[in-house]
Amino acid sequence: ATEETLVLVKPDGVARGLTGAILARIEAKGYALVDIRLVEPDRETLERHYAEHEGKPFYEPLVEFMMSGPSVAIRLAGNRVIEGFRSLAGTTDPTTAAPGTIRGDFGRDWGLKVQQNLVHGSDSTESAARELEIWFG
Ligand code: CMP
Repeated sequence: ATEETLVLVKPDGVARGLTGAILARIEAKGYALVDIRLVEPDRETLERHYAEHEGKPFYEPLVEFMMSGPSVAIRLAGNRVIEGFRSLAGTTDPTTAAPGTIRGDFGRDWGLKVQQNLVHGSDSTESAARELEIWFG
C-alpha cells in the first residue's frame, strides 16, 4: 500500500554535496517527493526525534552531529516506501553497508563515528507518523 516515510539527508550528506545524488536514487526508484526542505533542527527537535536512543552511548554525539550543519528533510511517498527506503540506504554502519546502497557507496569509514551515515529513514509506520509530525508538523 502507498505510505509515507521521513527521510533525512544528514549534515554529512549535505556538507559533502551528496543531496542530489541521494535524491536521484530516490526518484529513480519512483518514490514521490511530497515535501522537501532544508532544516537546521534545534536540540529540542532532535531530542524528540531520537527519544528512543536517550541514554545510549552514541546519543549525545548523535545530537551534536545533527546540529553541526543543515540537513534536508523529505516527506516521501510510495508503495512500501518505509522498508524500501531503508533498503536503498543500507545498514546503519557504512563500513558494513552493501555496495549499491547509499551508505555502501558513499559512506566513509570514519572510525567510530557511526552517526555519520548520510541518511535517516523511519523504521516503521508508527515511527514514520511520529517523525513526520516532528519535522513537518
Ligand atoms: P539513524 O537511522 O538516524 O538512527 C539512529 C542513529 O544513531 C543512526 O542512524 C546512527 O546515525 C546513530 N548511531 C551511532 N552509533 C550507533 C550505534 N552503535 N547503533 C545504532 N545507531 C548508531
